Amino acid sequence: MKILKPILIIAVGYLLLKVGIPFVGSKLHPGTWPVVPTSVLKMYMFFVVAGTLLFSTFSEDGYAGIVGPVADIYTNPKKGLLRFVSIMIVGSLGAYVAYQYVKPTFDAPVELRSIHPAPPSTVKMWGKSYSLQTLKNPLRADKANFAKNVEEGGIVFFQNCFFCHGDRMLGKGPFYQGFNPMPANFVDVGTIAQLTESFVFWRIGTGGPGLPSEATPWLSAMPIWHHLLSEEQIWKVILFLYDYTGHSPRVTAAQAH
Ligand code: HEC
Repeated sequence: MKILKPILIIAVGYLLLKVGIPFVGSKLHPGTWPVVPTSVLKMYMFFVVAGTLLFSTFSEDGYAGIVGPVADIYTNPKKGLLRFVSIMIVGSLGAYVAYQYVKPTFDAPVELRSIHPAPPSTVKMWGKSYSLQTLKNPLRADKANFAKNVEEGGIVFFQNCFFCHGDRMLGKGPFYQGFNPMPANFVDVGTIAQLTESFVFWRIGTGGPGLPSEATPWLSAMPIWHHLLSEEQIWKVILFLYDYTGHSPRVTAAQAH
């Protein structure tokens, strides 16, 4: 069986790359098992297979030894069953590989997304320009109307934001499952609790499309609210978000005075 020799050489080549190299590595650096990356393994295996096939089909004799048994399966009338089985195996293998390639995946893209990218220094909304470094929530100082403003912010929230961000602000509104990234969870200390009100104002006003390019490719479903709400409504809903969750907004030195 001349065909066994090249198969054996290829198997040994594979084992050397798959186990041999990590083994040598583990001896040089005890406690580690440095694996060969799959892409490198595939490249080397291509050369091992091509080299072995070239070498073993060099002579007339070797060629016959390798091609002979294969040709026999496909031409010998007595090997009908073997032919059938081998065609089935090769066919299913091809189908499996093709399926793996075209199969849709619902995993998030591996690229990193910056959740809180640096905001622009100024942002234009309602035909006005806002400097985010110094911008403050004008309604926060209005102590007399605070409760009323929070309540009106709550109305804005339940008419617009609740569908995604949820009635308990956990980012699990009725539609949340369709989105990637998921709607922000405002109760979590990782969102509004660590942001300034001007940052939140910018994010609500310009939504997902307002994010700088580093925040892609996870396209956010967060709508551009300055197209739909007034400036006052956004400041009110911000008051409501902090009041409801019990978080206080971050205040920078520039905003403190
Ligand atoms: C269609 C669904 C949807 C609606 C409606 C929606 N959001 Fe969002 N929102 C998202 C998604 C998804 C994210 C997370 C991705 C991102 O940061 O843009 C998000 C993020 C945010 C963030 C950023 C939080 C952070 O930590 O950076 C704020 C603030 C926010 N939403 C406020 C609101 C407010 C206020 C409303 C209502 C006026 C609203 N959202 C309505 C989907 C929505």
